[in-house]
Amino acid sequence: MRIHGRGVEQAQIGALLESARAGTGGVLVVRGEPGVGKSALLADAVAPLLVDPSVTVLRTQGIESEAPLPFAALQRLLRPLMRRHADDIAAPQAHALRVAFGEEVHDQDGSPSAADGDRFRVFLGTLNLVSAAAETQPVVAVIDDAHWLDEASAAALLFAARRLNMERVALLFGARDGDVRTFDAGDLPTLLLGGLDRTAVGDLLADRSGGVVSPEVSAQLLAATGGNPLALVELPEVLTAGQLEGSAPLPGRLPVTGGVERVFAERAERLGSDAQRLLLIAATDDSTEIAVIRAAARALGVDPDALDEVERSGLVTVTDGVLEMRHPLVRSAIYTGATTVARRATHQAGRRADTRPGCRVPGFNGGVGTC
Ligand SMILES: Nc1ncnc2c1ncn2[C@@H]1O[C@H](COP(=O)(O)OP(=O)(O)OP(=O)(O)O)[C@@H](O)[C@H]1O
Ligand SMILES: [Mg+2]
Repeated sequence: MRIHGRGVEQAQIGALLESARAGTGGVLVVRGEPGVGKSALLADAVAPLLVDPSVTVLRTQGIESEAPLPFAALQRLLRPLMRRHADDIAAPQAHALRVAFGEEVHDQDGSPSAADGDRFRVFLGTLNLVSAAAETQPVVAVIDDAHWLDEASAAALLFAARRLNMERVALLFGARDGDVRTFDAGDLPTLLLGGLDRTAVGDLLADRSGGVVSPEVSAQLLAATGGNPLALVELPEVLTAGQLEGSAPLPGRLPVTGGVERVFAERAERLGSDAQRLLLIAATDDSTEIAVIRAAARALGVDPDALDEVERSGLVTVTDGVLEMRHPLVRSAIYTGATTVARRATHQAGRRADTRPGCRVPGFNGGVGTC
């Protein structure tokens, strides 16, 4: 995927990555409204590093339904380092990390002060594990959707972020503004991502539509969307080639007015009732496994074949037994749009359905992943 109009931001991230290689890394928190392009920018920055064996890339993200699970996101981030570097840090810290990640059991007396001490050792362990890895080669850690991080992971990562400036480490956070949850990064360096400019809007629309877009139309669509790429990428599907070229008038009301999130919620409302309930099940389950989703559907008396209708709506894609939301906003729109009663019933049915033996991955069963 090509990204448009982010030269300044790409240079800023590039400079951070270069400093990390040179031994004075740091942190950058990329913030912005839903759909403004935080994940796209981070993915673009990290893409060349994924094929560069001289850099260690670590990734995790906050997941809404995992927010109550302490250290869930941190576990995903540090998993590759635990295997290689746990023996390079102080044994009590390595033990505290393993306890936090459900790999070892607590050997303290279980008192509140012991728990506090463990938490501090997890924070120190995080810092020292990343530093140990950076002794071998530079480390780039990308933490997206930080507004949905569980509180313990967020605290550990912020603790590390404040102390890693003289190491070969770059930490890149992506965090959404304007969500019910926020990522409070205090005084850490921030890159506030705004909408695209007129040229970038035209380039994006031309790229997505495969046709010509007149500068006047780009300007009107920029005004209507604030340059929000998520709102823009949807438009070529609903506008005609004539409207994009400027030979036919644009509709009076573009489908983004009122917020991009509503675009998805409205699309879901057009589905039949079983398909809507199935979509809520999919939005609630983070394992993304079709088998789990179908089992939960059956437990709720929902026809699992309604999945076809959900797939046809374009809100999700299904590949090799795995369901993916077209965009995190779909999950968020569907989940937050459901009633509390519906959500609770879905969680309960899902937990009963999600009985995969010996394999605790994120999903209804609330595991934090060891397989
Ligand atoms: N600069 C860009 N050029 C072209 N397409 C872009 C650009 N930025 C984002 N997009 C596209 O716009 C959509 C939304 O972008 P993205 O998912 O990165 O937003 P986000 O800020 O991470 O949103 P959220 O707050 O929901 O996480 C995606 O389809 C992405 O590919
Ligand atoms: Mg994102």
